Amino acid sequence: MLDPGAGAGILTAALVARVLDVAPELSLELVAVETDAALIPHLGGTLEECRRTATATGTQIQYQIVQADFIESLTSMPDGPLSSAAPFDLTIMNPPYGKLAASSVHRRALARNGLVCPNLYAAFLALGVSMLKRGGQVVAITPRSFTNGPYFGEFRRKFLSAVALNDIHTYASRSRVFAESGVLQETVIIRATKGGNARKVRLSMSADHRSLSAERLVSAEEVVHPEDPHKFIRIVGSNEEQTAIDALGEMPGRLGDLGISVSTGRVVDFRARRHLLKDPTPECAPLVYPGNCVGGVVIWPRDIRKPQGFRLGDDLAARQVVPNGTYVVVKRFSTKEERRRIVAAVWDGDARGHPAVAFENHLNVFHQAGAGIDRDLAVGLSYWLNSTLIDRFFRTFSGHTQVNVADIRALPFPSPIQLVSLGQRCQPQLPGQAEIDSMVTTAFGL
Ligand SMILES: C[S@@+](CC[C@H](N)C(=O)[O-])C[C@H]1O[C@@H](n2cnc3c(N)ncnc32)[C@H](O)[C@@H]1O
Repeated sequence: MLDPGAGAGILTAALVARVLDVAPELSLELVAVETDAALIPHLGGTLEECRRTATATGTQIQYQIVQADFIESLTSMPDGPLSSAAPFDLTIMNPPYGKLAASSVHRRALARNGLVCPNLYAAFLALGVSMLKRGGQVVAITPRSFTNGPYFGEFRRKFLSAVALNDIHTYASRSRVFAESGVLQETVIIRATKGGNARKVRLSMSADHRSLSAERLVSAEEVVHPEDPHKFIRIVGSNEEQTAIDALGEMPGRLGDLGISVSTGRVVDFRARRHLLKDPTPECAPLVYPGNCVGGVVIWPRDIRKPQGFRLGDDLAARQVVPNGTYVVVKRFSTKEERRRIVAAVWDGDARGHPAVAFENHLNVFHQAGAGIDRDLAVGLSYWLNSTLIDRFFRTFSGHTQVNVADIRALPFPSPIQLVSLGQRCQPQLPGQAEIDSMVTTAFGL
């Protein structure tokens, strides 16, 4: 068994305890890899205690501690400390988390080995699997971010072609489970088999680390849709989410079918300082931030301690604005206080005299070929996006508060005629959540 990033060896100790409990006749060969010299004595102490306890009950244990950089050892050191240590039956890991910059030594070494890993934990997962024999298993506790989104797309495709998912465990509350470590990401524990072809995946969820509150067995195709080019890993953890999937899953429409595109706002404010105006003028373009979005509409100008105007007049400015009109915007990062992950608002610019509008980069902007969209369609879209059904659907494939354009493109949408008809009956200012939901379910027969 391999434990990369072993720390003080707590996972290996848990595995040994389990083996002694359920299969004491096994003999174990353990390899623990840890780079931090300060932890090695603790790791040694844990493994030695495991060996002593096991020997007392008749279980054979050999262990090896490798003080090395796990990534470097496997990507750049053909004769390194792990060169003869494979293949394994099991790799169990709680790997380090941290972005790997495109220019970093690790990232380049991984790329030379054909691995695209935007984060340390993804590198540990990919390399951990490469160390397994066929039929070997990986058990990993990691952030949920690899299950969707464009950054991990290539990693996901490769990972899912190497392993079959068997179990996915999620925690309902990220703050309660990892309160001490300050990990804000939702966390998953997965078990997967190299070269496996499991038809079913067990999904389980617990409120915190003490309880198991829900468990479901679903087909592998429900978790990763065979035709999905992005290979999102969809984790439908609760009955409410299943109801949303059942209601929306059959809806064939995607944003592209409405003739509408979504892009991130073009203005990165710290790169456009000379265009920013604290006090807007009639000639400028209104500059819209997430803080301008309140209750389904964009309130502008608004006192949010951000410049509210964008100076026009040169080519650079022209490239960062869009013609004034009606747009729907969705915050790219929702705050903890917001009940829904998707927070949409309508910019209804027609009544204002400004020639153009500038959307800041923390917004996703819905547009039609770079220009505004029909007002009724925009209002209908806003209700749809702000509904509880869409929120639940979104949570089945996204474990964080970030909303990427790729995520929005993966959402189901009703037909434009249905959306326009809903928009005609609604005010852009949103009513309470129950009323939004009832208007949406009635309008679309859900
Ligand atoms: C999240 S901690 C987990 C420790 C332990 N597995 C546990 O569950 O308590 C990650 C561990 O990986 C180690 N680590 C970080 N980068 C590493 C690398 N490149 N190679 C090997 N170990 C590394 C850290 O020192 C740390 O002990």
